[in-house]
Amino acid sequence: MIRPVFSLWATLFRVVSAAKVISLIGNDWTLSNHNGSISVPAHLPSQAHLDLYANGVIDDPYHNLNEFGLRWVAYSNWTYTSAPITGLSRDASSTWLRFDGLDTFATISFCGEYVASTNNQFRQWYYDVTDIMSSCEEPDRIIALDFGSAPLIANQISNEAGQETWPSGVQQLFIRKEQSDFGWDWGPAFAPAGPWQPAYVVQLGHGDVHVRNSDLDIYRRGQLNGLPPDQSQPWVVNASLDYFGALPEGATMRYVLKDTNNKTVCSGPLGNVNTTKSTVTGMATIEDDKVELWWPSQLGLQTLYWITVELHTPTKSMLTSVRKRVGFRTIVLNQTPLSEDQLAMGIAPGNNWHFEVNGHEFYAKGSNIIPPDAFWTRVTRYRIDQLFDSVIDGNQNMLRVWASGAYSPDFMFDLADEKGILLWSEFEFGDALYPVNQDFLDNVREEAEYQVRRCNHHPSLALWAGGNELESLELLLLNESAPEEFPKFKAQYEKLFIDTLAPAVFRNTRSISYTPSSTSNGYTNLNVSSPHPITQRFYDVKPGHYYSDTDFYNYDPVPNPWA
Ligand SMILES: *[C@@H]1O[C@H](CO)[C@@H](O)[C@H](O)[C@H]1NC(C)=O
Ligand SMILES: *[C@@H]1O[C@H](CO)[C@@H](O)[C@H](O)[C@H]1NC(C)=O
Ligand SMILES: *[C@@H]1O[C@H](CO)[C@@H](O)[C@H](O)[C@H]1NC(C)=O
Ligand SMILES: *[C@@H]1O[C@H](CO)[C@@H](O)[C@H](O)[C@H]1NC(C)=O
Ligand SMILES: *[C@@H]1O[C@H](CO)[C@@H](O)[C@H](O)[C@H]1NC(C)=O
Ligand SMILES: *[C@@H]1O[C@H](CO)[C@@H](O)[C@H](O)[C@H]1NC(C)=O
Ligand SMILES: *[C@@H]1O[C@H](CO)[C@@H](O)[C@H](O)[C@H]1NC(C)=O
Repeated sequence: MIRPVFSLWATLFRVVSAAKVISLIGNDWTLSNHNGSISVPAHLPSQAHLDLYANGVIDDPYHNLNEFGLRWVAYSNWTYTSAPITGLSRDASSTWLRFDGLDTFATISFCGEYVASTNNQFRQWYYDVTDIMSSCEEPDRIIALDFGSAPLIANQISNEAGQETWPSGVQQLFIRKEQSDFGWDWGPAFAPAGPWQPAYVVQLGHGDVHVRNSDLDIYRRGQLNGLPPDQSQPWVVNASLDYFGALPEGATMRYVLKDTNNKTVCSGPLGNVNTTKSTVTGMATIEDDKVELWWPSQLGLQTLYWITVELHTPTKSMLTSVRKRVGFRTIVLNQTPLSEDQLAMGIAPGNNWHFEVNGHEFYAKGSNIIPPDAFWTRVTRYRIDQLFDSVIDGNQNMLRVWASGAYSPDFMFDLADEKGILLWSEFEFGDALYPVNQDFLDNVREEAEYQVRRCNHHPSLALWAGGNELESLELLLLNESAPEEFPKFKAQYEKLFIDTLAPAVFRNTRSISYTPSSTSNGYTNLNVSSPHPITQRFYDVKPGHYYSDTDFYNYDPVPNPWA
């Protein structure tokens, strides 16, 4: 049975609410194929391969050449069915389903009725199912998640009339699912399917709200993305809660800042409270001398604090609150043109390209991290803890979280916050071009807003990059195979990585820099309030000038026989 856990889960997820939150995490699920010839007990969160393996239906996917032998799993549809959900109330004003991640093409039904279909592994999905609930008896309160085959659906989408086609040799991706699921030079292709993140049923009483995501932005007053801030300014805390339910008019907000021993550092009302149908936002200023800075490993202490953001009715009764662990630091990827002073020091002309933490330039020493497992749902905190200890033991202070995998889970950020490892984080795009039709762009924008808001409070978050090897590789390959079409494809690149992703970052954080491609020649203009906020330099370079972090790939002096 799936049992109600009310405030227990709410506390674990640092969201306290009067709403009833029933966790769907656990073993009360069944996994079956389309005709029922396979039907086994299953878990949430999970992916089909892991439940099949746990029940002896398939061998260890990592063993031998099982990668090839198990292709049929990726080409099948899989259904996760819950046990009847108990503890739901008839008296609730509204009932919602909330999924923090479905991989990827799921058709959701509740009480045998269709709810919705999903098409993005990296988004949170939530649905008002009050109508369905009103005529659904307890034994029928079953959720079914029908997952279609991602490789087959991707092929279908690519063959739709009107889809873009790119020159041969250029990779193209039509779906929002971990790209390395389809194989990479370092890893196998399993293309797994399943409910890979937690899920909940939420019931709200009259006047209740449920916070599904939140954004805490901490920056120096006047700070703008990508530019070194004035370190003498006080801190601004901008707290924004994404909610569903009926927020009473005139709601107010408060914050309490505590150290990690729970000693209150400061508290007070949040000002400028701004409410929309789905978010409520407020701000406070915290004087510099109230808090200690957070530093990366070897540069200082990793001082952390807890912030509780409370939402109150106009009559001061608490509606809900969100508690997140934060640090006070500024981190900037400085790509500004060299100053006169720098040139006078004899530095080669061009643009800066370095990180500054709390106003100090430092050497970023690090490595690249790929998905630690082909199946994320079996990546434990313990495994990442061990990996990150070795990062620290190796005197590193930054990891580049490679695009074409998945966004770092919160427990990974938590460990990085504690150990002082900066995470250069990328949106999940790499070595490819993508459709730029409105549906695709809207889907990407929702994904980016959700992820930027979810992660923004972690002091270890160092940067958002649009993706992997786009300007220094993919666009150049494109130009080689179809130079006459280069302007068109460059415009597509700009539409996705500059006009869609950059504003999604700048609308939700002032504390984090954005660069469209992990490797590029930097920008010639940055204006975070413009709809086209970045003008990239692209290939407009002068000999003897240095601009950014462009890769060089051809180190091997031996001719490549396969090239
Ligand atoms: C069910 O489908 C599987 C896979 O497509 C197939 O191998 C099996 O024969 C089918 N079983 C029945 C009873 O139709
Ligand atoms: C698998 O699911 C897709 C939709 O996701 C559907 O079009 C297809 O008919 C299903 N295949 C089977 C064998 O049920
Ligand atoms: C601080 O308070 C939280 C929430 O009440 C509690 O879970 C935690 O154990 C406390 N920590 C310490 C160090 O007392
Ligand atoms: C509230 O936020 C919305 C959306 O960001 C904005 O358009 C509006 O001007 C804001 N209202 C106030 C009073 O600040
Ligand atoms: C594109 O290719 C043409 C030659 O086909 C070359 O002249 C041009 O410099 C290339 N552009 C870029 C951006 O590499
Ligand atoms: C506060 O954050 C919200 C997004 O969460 C944003 O719309 C607003 O502009 C921010 N305000 C300031 C002053 O940073
Ligand atoms: C930045 O863009 C905004 C909006 O397009 C515009 O109003 C402003 O003048 C621009 N700032 C500069 C310095 O160009």
